Amino acid sequence: MGRITIAIDGHSSTGKSTVARELAKALDYIYVDSGAMYRAVTLYALRNGFVDQANGGVNKEALISSLPDIELVFEKNGQNGKAEICLNGENVEKAIRTMEVSGLVSAVAAMPEVRKKLVEQQRLIGKDKGVVMDGRDIGTVVFPDAELKLFMTASSRIRATRRYKELLERGEDISFEEVLHNVESRDHADSTRKDSPLVMAEDAVEIDNSDMGEAEQFERILSHAKDLIAKGSAG
Ligand code: DC
Repeated sequence: MGRITIAIDGHSSTGKSTVARELAKALDYIYVDSGAMYRAVTLYALRNGFVDQANGGVNKEALISSLPDIELVFEKNGQNGKAEICLNGENVEKAIRTMEVSGLVSAVAAMPEVRKKLVEQQRLIGKDKGVVMDGRDIGTVVFPDAELKLFMTASSRIRATRRYKELLERGEDISFEEVLHNVESRDHADSTRKDSPLVMAEDAVEIDNSDMGEAEQFERILSHAKDLIAKGSAG
């Protein structure tokens, strides 16, 4: 059976990673969370004090000159099979999910130098196909030839509610309004940046899951993917 490339883009907290992970599992493909890579670079910047509030939040010069020192690797968690991100040998899967990282990540992700490095690595990981990657520019920039492109969206209130619950479960002390503000300001920053803004690829399938159940949505996507794989093998 031929293998395809599946690109999943969309706004934050639309369930991209859940769909991507389940698809990869059902098809026995590799799952890559590209947002985790931008978050890990952001964590590196925070830990090294590359913060400059006056200048869009991040000290760009310092971060650019440190890029060669940042090594990102995905390692498989033996217990749940999830590919977790390691920053210079340390598993940072949890450390990258804080509001502090969320607050700075759009500024880091807007830097062309950062994007160039991460896109190169993403293309290398996906060069043999059989990959499901989620992010913002996967169908438009990283894999413009992906056989299946999904663009996931939902209202910002619904997405903020999902994220708020996750953060509360993790014990973060935060208000709903702060989370909503972060979701909306990241949408704005990600969609209006110059380099690889979040836009839907022309050939993507749009999925608004504000009201759609997770199971129903997943079944539809999986059967669509299987059709494409079968078609590819026949043709
Ligand atoms: O999917 P996420 O919320 O973990 O992504 C974190 C940030 O990284 C998000 O605000 C936008 C950025 N990002 C990006 O610019 N390009 C990608 N391919 C993935 C994420």
